[in-house]
Amino acid sequence: MTLIETVSDLRHWRKTAGTVHFVPTMGALHEGHAALIRTARQRAGSSGKVAVSIFVNPLQFGPNEDFDRYPRTLEPDLATCQEAGADVVFAPAVSEVYHRDRSIKILETSLSQVLCGASRPGHFDGVCTVVAKLFNLVQPDEAVFGKKDYQQLAIIRRLVRDLDIPVHIHGLDTVRESDGLALSSRNRYLTAAERAQAPALRAALEKAHATWQTGVTSSRKLLDLIHQHLAEHASLGRKDYIALVDQQSLQPVEIARPGTLIALAIHFGKTRLIDNLELG
Ligand code: PAJ
Repeated sequence: MTLIETVSDLRHWRKTAGTVHFVPTMGALHEGHAALIRTARQRAGSSGKVAVSIFVNPLQFGPNEDFDRYPRTLEPDLATCQEAGADVVFAPAVSEVYHRDRSIKILETSLSQVLCGASRPGHFDGVCTVVAKLFNLVQPDEAVFGKKDYQQLAIIRRLVRDLDIPVHIHGLDTVRESDGLALSSRNRYLTAAERAQAPALRAALEKAHATWQTGVTSSRKLLDLIHQHLAEHASLGRKDYIALVDQQSLQPVEIARPGTLIALAIHFGKTRLIDNLELG
């Protein structure tokens, strides 16, 4: 496995790399990231190459967000990449990626206005800008993203569609702890009491799913059920949003159908956890 830190070395590598499967990350890698890399490895086969990027992208953090304290753990991250089957890790400095006088960014004007985007203005524009740049640098044939960040995945699909970027996007199911909590680099910030309550997010979504399967399709009723479950089992949590939305447009729906997405974001202290479930 090769570590590449500069754009010029990456361009040099790309010339002879052949088919490339790409996993963009911000590091602090856990089993969820490892699953993306293993999937890329599988899909690349023995002839394709797997590239992982590790870059904490300043553009996607708001002024009061955790850019400075975002965990940076390059050494163990490289070991994870290697074990999961990466051929190349691109881990550039900020100055390597962004020109000091940069003046272009990508704006997404619809999907990014709801859910996480509503409380994180500019976040998805930062994501779109860095992902478009990474796609231009790595020039992958396919890129793998997690469904844990469902809105991000929907926006990336829109990005490559609207800008005709020639890359296939593959979405992967969320990897969880045994108690249901979605793996996240931010779980480490939870106190013991918060950690004990955090699985309630998943449990609430599953309860709504089970109730929907009995024939309850009113979004209002399903939302009430989730609120009630969280009030009982996650008293330390503070709601950012809980919503039933159309999978493609991410707009709220009144009737839950197969494929409807239930998404939620809950604050535990300074830590914001997200999860989602596709009805089916
Ligand atoms: P990061 O939060 O590091 O996530 C990198 C990828 O890992 C994303 O596709 C995310 O959905 C996926 N992921 C995170 N937790 C997961 C889990 N528990 N199961 C499965 N996949 C999981 O998302 C970003 O970085 C950035 O916004 C990025 C796309 C790299 C642009 O900067």
